[in-house]
Amino acid sequence: MDNRSAAPQRPLNIVIVGHVDHGKSTLIGRLLHDTGSLPDGKLEELKRVSERRGMPLEWSFVLDAFQAERDQAVTIDTTRIWFKTRARDYVIIDAPGHREFLKNMISGAASAEAAVLVVDAAEGVREQTRRHAYLLHLLGLRQVVVAVNKMDLVGFARDRFASVQAEITAYLDELGVNALAVVPISARDGETLVRASAKMPWYEGPPLVDCLDRFVPHRQPVERPLRMPVQDVYKLDHRRIIAGRVESGVLRVGDTLLFSPAGRSARVKTIEDFGASVPPVEARAGQVVGVTLDEQVFAERGDVASHDDHPPILTNVFRAHVFWLASKPLAAGARFKVKLATRETQAVVQSIERVIDTETLDGGRRETVGRNEVAEVVLRTREMLALDEHFGSGATGRCVLIDTYDTVGGGVISMRGYPDQRQALTVKATNIHSVDHLLTPEARALRNSHRGAVIWFTGLSGSGKSTLAMRLEQRLFAKGWQVYVLDGDNVRHGLNADLGFSPQDRAENIRRVGEVAALFATAGIVTITAFISPYRADRQRARAAAGGDFHEIYIKADLATCEERDPKGLYAKARAGKIPDFTGISAPYEEPEAAELTVDTATCAVDDCVSQIAAYLERLTVLEGDAATG
Ligand code: ADX
Repeated sequence: MDNRSAAPQRPLNIVIVGHVDHGKSTLIGRLLHDTGSLPDGKLEELKRVSERRGMPLEWSFVLDAFQAERDQAVTIDTTRIWFKTRARDYVIIDAPGHREFLKNMISGAASAEAAVLVVDAAEGVREQTRRHAYLLHLLGLRQVVVAVNKMDLVGFARDRFASVQAEITAYLDELGVNALAVVPISARDGETLVRASAKMPWYEGPPLVDCLDRFVPHRQPVERPLRMPVQDVYKLDHRRIIAGRVESGVLRVGDTLLFSPAGRSARVKTIEDFGASVPPVEARAGQVVGVTLDEQVFAERGDVASHDDHPPILTNVFRAHVFWLASKPLAAGARFKVKLATRETQAVVQSIERVIDTETLDGGRRETVGRNEVAEVVLRTREMLALDEHFGSGATGRCVLIDTYDTVGGGVISMRGYPDQRQALTVKATNIHSVDHLLTPEARALRNSHRGAVIWFTGLSGSGKSTLAMRLEQRLFAKGWQVYVLDGDNVRHGLNADLGFSPQDRAENIRRVGEVAALFATAGIVTITAFISPYRADRQRARAAAGGDFHEIYIKADLATCEERDPKGLYAKARAGKIPDFTGISAPYEEPEAAELTVDTATCAVDDCVSQIAAYLERLTVLEGDAATG
C-alpha cells in the first residue's frame, strides 16, 4: 500500500445564511441528500416519521433531526453538519442563534471560510437578506455564492432571476462583498444543486455545488507568513533569549527576523528547546520557542517577529468588529487597554460606525453599544501596533478590550479605509549624510521679512480648501510675501501622478507633500497646502517633517454642505457608486483634534475666511519689529 499519497484535504467550513423563510434548511437537507452525504437509513427514517404524522416529507426535517441531536449535547453551541462533493468535504457551521454564531466567529471558536446566501426568488431581497449580507461583510467573509431559491415558484423565469440577481449584487457591491456566482435553484426539487437543470436551460453557469468547489480554503497557520509575538526576553549566561509562540509560518536558523513596530532586524543564531538533545533548526506554527540572534537588537514583549518580505501592518488606528460583553454601554471617547497578541496598549474609541443587535441583526448608526451587541468601531491606540487583518490571520488579527482588569469585549481587525503606515515609517536609505547650508533661516527670513512656514489646510472635498488657498496666496503675494500653494489636484498631475485614492496611496501622497512643503518652508516660503489629508497620523508626520513652523488649519464644512456644493460633481458620482473610496462617503475623514485654527466655510463667507487665516498668519510669521511696516 502506498502511504505517501497526498494528505486528505481538510474540510472547508462554510456558513449558509439568509432570511428564515427563504429555504435555508431545505437547501441543507437537499444538499446532504443529493451529494450522498446522509447517513444510511436517515432518509427512510424521516419518511416514516412524516408518514406517521400524515405530513409530506420536507427536506428541512433533515436539519431538524440534526438540531434535535445537538440539543441533547448540552455542552456544544454549534452544530457541524458534514457533506461531501466530488472535490472535497464540507462542514456547515451552524449555531442556535446569531448571537452564538457571531460570538464564535469573533472569538475564533468557529471560523467559516465561505458563505452561501439564500434569497427567495419570489420575494427578492428582504430586510433580513440585507442584514445577513451585512453579517458576511462584518465577518470579513469574502467568498460568497448567492443561491436564488424557489425558482419553481416563479415558473423558472429567467427575467425574475435577472432582477433578483441585479438587486442582490448591487447590495453586496455596496458592502464590498463580491459574489463569486449567483445561481438560480429550487432546493425543494433539487434543481441546479448538483447538476444543470432542464427547467432552466437559459442558465449557463455551473450548478451550486460546483460553485462551492471553487471556494479557496483559508491557508493553514503553517502556510501563512511568519508571526511570532514576543512573550518575553530572558538573559541566560550572557545570551538574550527571545521567547514566544510561533503563531503562523515557519522560523529557521539563519532567517532574518524583523521586529515590529520598532523595525529592527537580526538573524536567528539558534533556536532553543530545552527538552531536545539536538538543537532544532526550525520551529513551526503552534510551537513555543526561544531564539537567540546574531546581533543585539532591542526587542521586547509585545513586539511581533516576522520575515522581511511579509511583515505585519503598522498602524495606530484600525477598525474592530467588536462583540461587547460588559453591562456598561460602550461609547465613543471611552478608553481601554487593548490586548493584541502579547502587546497591551491604551486605546480610545474614536467612533462607533454601526451597531448590530445580535438577536435580530437589526442595526444602524447608534451612539452606544449594549451588552451582547456587535459593533463596528474605530480604535486609536497610543502606540503603533503590528497587526494583521483578521481573516486568515489568527492571533495578530484579533484584539481584546480590557477595562481595569475585566475583559469587556473582543474584536476582529479590519483596516478598511485605513492605510498601513509601515511605508511612512520605514527608513531605507543608508550611508547618507546631511549637508549644511551656508545660509541661515534667519538670513532668508530677513530678506523676505517673514519666516517660512507650512500652512496645512485639511478638510473634505468641496470644503473650500483650494479656493481659500488661492485667495490667501494672492492676498499675501500682494503684500510682498514669498508664498506658494501646493494643491491636491495639481500635485496629482505631476509629482504624485502615480498615486490613486486607496488608503495606502493617500498616505504616500501626504508623506511626499509633507516633505516637499517642509523643503519649501526651509527655503523661506510660506507654503500653503490644500489636500484632504484625511488621516491624523499623516498630518502628524507632515508636522514633524516641517519642524517648528507648521500650522494646521481645518477648513470645515459639514458633509451635507460639501455634497450640496459638489463643485466637480464627484459626490453625485460617489453616491452612484462610480467612485470607490470617496472621502466622507465610502472612505474616512478624521477631523483634526487640535488644529491651530478652524474656519467654518458653511457659515462664513470666502473673504472673511481668508481674512481670518491672514490675521492668524500675520501674528506668526512676520518678524519681530516688522509688523508695523508689514
Ligand atoms: S488626499 O486624500 O490624498 O489628501 P487630495 O487632496 O490629494 O486627496 O485630492 C483630492 C481631490 O481629488 C478631490 O478634491 C477630488 O477632486 C479628487 N478625487 C478623486 N477621487 C477622489 C476620492 N476617491 N476621494 C476624494 N477625492 C477624490
